[in-house]
Amino acid sequence: MNAATLNVLALSGSLRKGSFNTRLIEAAKGLAPKGMTIDIASIRDIPLYDEDVRSQGVPASVKTLAQKIRDADAVLISTPEYNYSIPGVLKNAIDWLSREEKQPFDGKPIAIMGASMGKLGTARSQYHLRQVFVFLNGLVMTRPEVFLGAAHEAFNDDGTLKDDGTQKIVAELLEKLWAWTKRLN
Ligand code: FNR
Repeated sequence: MNAATLNVLALSGSLRKGSFNTRLIEAAKGLAPKGMTIDIASIRDIPLYDEDVRSQGVPASVKTLAQKIRDADAVLISTPEYNYSIPGVLKNAIDWLSREEKQPFDGKPIAIMGASMGKLGTARSQYHLRQVFVFLNGLVMTRPEVFLGAAHEAFNDDGTLKDDGTQKIVAELLEKLWAWTKRLN
């Protein structure tokens, strides 16, 4: 990390092509402060956690993702909410990563946001995700909180966010993530 750049690795907790959470990350790229890069890493190739598989060798997809997280200055996660909690695919990826020797989230600055069609905008899922990072010592920024409700109405056709207030809070999340990362370094 140098003063002029911040490399952020983003994870979407949804695999589907039209994911509002992936779209929210894409929209965030356009709102990032100068010098910040946001690269999305997919969790699609992470297999279901199985200790028997792990004991025969950690899958390459897990090792690659762990290294990308280690190499990043900060992590940005956009999570859906499934049954009031973290989607299984995201939790599964975190579970694999958590067993890596140099645990990639340890001491890592993290910002969380999320999008859902409901009113609460993934609030319950985000609080569960925060709890997971307590154990992993992932340093999740407390504020601002970005809960994008009615996500099916939130985006323009070009992927930008319709609402000024939403754009502002996402931009603020990114600015504060940079300040948070500096502070922790
Ligand atoms: C959902 N959805 C949902 N929404 C919500 O606000 N609270 C919830 O508890 C749930 N539970 C839930 C469970 C399961 C199994 C599915 C598939 C969906 C709806 C969910 O927010 C919606 O599908 C989002 O669009 C998912 O995020 P992506 O894929 O658009 O990023």
